Amino acid sequence: MTNLAMELAGSFGLENLVLRERPARAPGVGEVRLRVEYASLNRRDLLLVEGVYNPRQSLPVVPCSDGAGVVDAVGEGCARLRVGDRAVLHFFTGWLSGEPDSAKLATALGGPGGDGTLQQTLIVPESALARIPDSLTTEAAATLPCAGLTAWSAVVDQGGLRPGSIVVTQGTGGVSLFALQFARMMGARVIATTSSDAKAETLRRLGADVVVNYRTHPDWSRAARDGAGGPIDLIVDVGGADTLDASLRMIRPGGTIALIGVLGGAKASITLPLAVMRQVRLQGVTCGHREAFELMLRGVERHGVDPVISHRFKLAEARAAFECMKANAHVGKIIVDLR
Ligand SMILES: NC(=O)c1ccc[n+]([C@@H]2O[C@H](COP(=O)([O-])OP(=O)(O)OC[C@H]3O[C@@H](n4cnc5c(N)ncnc54)[C@H](OP(=O)(O)O)[C@@H]3O)[C@@H](O)[C@H]2O)c1
Repeated sequence: MTNLAMELAGSFGLENLVLRERPARAPGVGEVRLRVEYASLNRRDLLLVEGVYNPRQSLPVVPCSDGAGVVDAVGEGCARLRVGDRAVLHFFTGWLSGEPDSAKLATALGGPGGDGTLQQTLIVPESALARIPDSLTTEAAATLPCAGLTAWSAVVDQGGLRPGSIVVTQGTGGVSLFALQFARMMGARVIATTSSDAKAETLRRLGADVVVNYRTHPDWSRAARDGAGGPIDLIVDVGGADTLDASLRMIRPGGTIALIGVLGGAKASITLPLAVMRQVRLQGVTCGHREAFELMLRGVERHGVDPVISHRFKLAEARAAFECMKANAHVGKIIVDLR
């Protein structure tokens, strides 16, 4: 059986991604072998390859946490999945439920948790996989583990939303588009920002009520607040240093800022009284556990949430896939096809 893998070897950098044949083994007790058909990229994967995410990451490593495919062998003691089942990986393979801890958070593949999904076969504990709902394609399922569950945790679990609540999303990346889709699913009004009028079309198609271009608008946060037409209940903040202070000025007293990303930098200067004296909840979100992932899959199926796929690349073109993300040329998710 062939197992072609895109490996980061030698040192960090996109130029060090190389296609290699890796041995494939039979699954052991409690393990399942997944024939990975599709992987999807997250910002973390790009940062890992560039040596920014974890400069101490040991190499070689196969990048990427997210993938979906077909079970092609099961080890002894497996009861949930059978050969031929379509299955999708859960992001933290060892965080099944309950509160996070350091050990659970060290189990994301394509990094501290071991080799990731840019390879054609993957051996994982059976508990790391969820069955893909019938209505969802395998490719769509591959977009969901990191970006989908992070947005679900922020909007559905932590957002405190009611029908008619007002939500702000930032940009057109994977997390933000899922946040927009889940906020609409919950009956919220959504104000979305973007750097580009062309990308704004997708935001409108997904149901954004107001779109603000933060590049061309001199005071984009005021425009977003004006467009909201009422108190903003939840901001899904992915901009970090670039956006957090603006988010604090926009959110209503008692509202929630979901701290998700650091696209604009990891060290933010913020006006603390805006949180302290207005009882704003700054809620860090770190993806989520498998129980929440299974609930999200049900929600996606029942509400017909259709992940936005921006670009598709073959495994041998993985470097180009990362370059696409680095250039912010995408809207939604970037897929790598390993079939
Ligand atoms: N906490 C967690 O569990 C978790 C999980 C997933 C991701 N993240 C983090 O969340 C962030 C987004 O991840 P992703 O995978 O969705 O990324 P992505 O798909 O690469 O999203 C990038 C997009 O975000 C927008 N953007 C870029 N810089 C921005 C800035 N300074 N301010 C506002 N918008 C900006 C741009 O869209 P426009 O051109 O339309 O503006 C860009 O195309 C990253 O920092 C990632 O590390 C955290």
